[in-house]
Amino acid sequence: MDKDTLTIIDNRTNQTYMIPIHRGTIRAMDLRQIKTGPEDFGLMTYDPAYMNTAACQSAVTFLDGEKGILRYRGYPIEQLAEHCSYLEVAYLLIFGELPTMEELLAWEREIGQHTMIHENVKKFMDGFHHDAHPMGILISTVAALSTFYPDSHRIQDAASRRHQVVRLIGKLPTVAAYAYRHRLGRPYVYPDPELSYTKNYMNMLWKMTEPKYAANPVLARALEVLFILHADHEQNCSTSTMRAVGSSNADPFATMAGAIAALSGPLHGGANEEVLLMLDEIGTVSNIPGFIAQVKEGKRKLMGFGHRVYKNYDPRARIIKKVAEEVFEVTGRNPKIDIALALERIALSDEYFIKRKLYPNVDFYSGIIYEAMGFTPDQFTVLFAIPRTAGWLAQWQELMQDPDRKIARPRQVYVGEERREFVPITARSAAEPAKVAR
Ligand code: ACO
Repeated sequence: MDKDTLTIIDNRTNQTYMIPIHRGTIRAMDLRQIKTGPEDFGLMTYDPAYMNTAACQSAVTFLDGEKGILRYRGYPIEQLAEHCSYLEVAYLLIFGELPTMEELLAWEREIGQHTMIHENVKKFMDGFHHDAHPMGILISTVAALSTFYPDSHRIQDAASRRHQVVRLIGKLPTVAAYAYRHRLGRPYVYPDPELSYTKNYMNMLWKMTEPKYAANPVLARALEVLFILHADHEQNCSTSTMRAVGSSNADPFATMAGAIAALSGPLHGGANEEVLLMLDEIGTVSNIPGFIAQVKEGKRKLMGFGHRVYKNYDPRARIIKKVAEEVFEVTGRNPKIDIALALERIALSDEYFIKRKLYPNVDFYSGIIYEAMGFTPDQFTVLFAIPRTAGWLAQWQELMQDPDRKIARPRQVYVGEERREFVPITARSAAEPAKVAR
């Protein structure tokens, strides 16, 4: 008997099936042959939220949540965060290898040439209300960019795909910075391709009347490290959205707008904003036990804690804690860090969190740094979306070249009414409240 197989006995029919195992998985379609009779559709798996379903094969990011390991293209995140620039890591994610010096310079030049956005984009951004959430602006503006680049529909053309990748990585900071300044009523600052990726972004955010804005190098490097840590995270909610939308052959701008929308939710990238609001609400270290009690009673969630795949300390959170100290050397200590540290200490020694293997995730400390740097909480998730662009696009490129690619289309287990006859409106009675969807 082939050892790399799974033997299944269907107790309904007493039939035995042998299913091949490849890389620790069985193909769900191999279950379809398991039937009670010719009329039976065949066995499916039921896996809401994809708790145990691999939806693709990927060579981009490796993650071992039990051991707390994260690698991009085989390189440990700790080494990349220490030695690389964000664009170097973006190159690695997209093309699979670290660039040579020559390749990196050419890549930086190419991205720099694509940082401008059409003047008309500013016009519709101006239409947003002054307090429009920056993630709403980002989602809409990235979707709208597809109308400026109709060539992006040519998703089967490798050269066109590469062009859109460069456009998106180049333009995201510009759109994000314009959204920021729009809220403050400040004039937009054009990108400066002479500057590094993060310094250019800081320039577009914070330049006022000075002829040349000089970004603080420590803060620019901190942002660079934060961008590296957020650049990819395999098949998370927004990346799966990127793949699902991309599988329909939608253009990459529309596709990425979908991914940004998924990121905006408080259970995903939006958690960094929620953490700050939670720390504000807690206010002082003495209020922590009361807050933790509410969490344990199921009344609240400890935002920035827990992860679908990390059942150990998120390695990104460990690096971020270190970055925080470096940033505070420049900005002064954000007092919220002390509440966060105490919260972590208390949570990690509490049976509720230990039993459920709940540790701080990437969002727990990032917002405290962003706030110290001068960002308001509603900007935090934008700061996640900018660097995640490289990861989304690396995964999208991989999808586009995947011989197994098909339109994403899950099955369902139908639990609704059986066939019934139409009832004319005059003969209908009001449905029982419990039956009406609310
Ligand atoms: N606070 C309190 N309890 C929690 C938390 C939390 N943050 N996270 C999980 N739990 C509890 C759940 O209530 C559940 O308890 P139970 O077994 O008694 O019912 C148990 O831990 C398992 O949690 P699930 O919700 O089943 O875990 P899941 O994998 O579905 O959810 C998620 C993961 C969404 C990240 C969750 O941990 C959460 O909501 N965390 C807070 C939001 C957050 O920080 N999100 C950012 C994640 S990182 C990112 O996306 C960039």
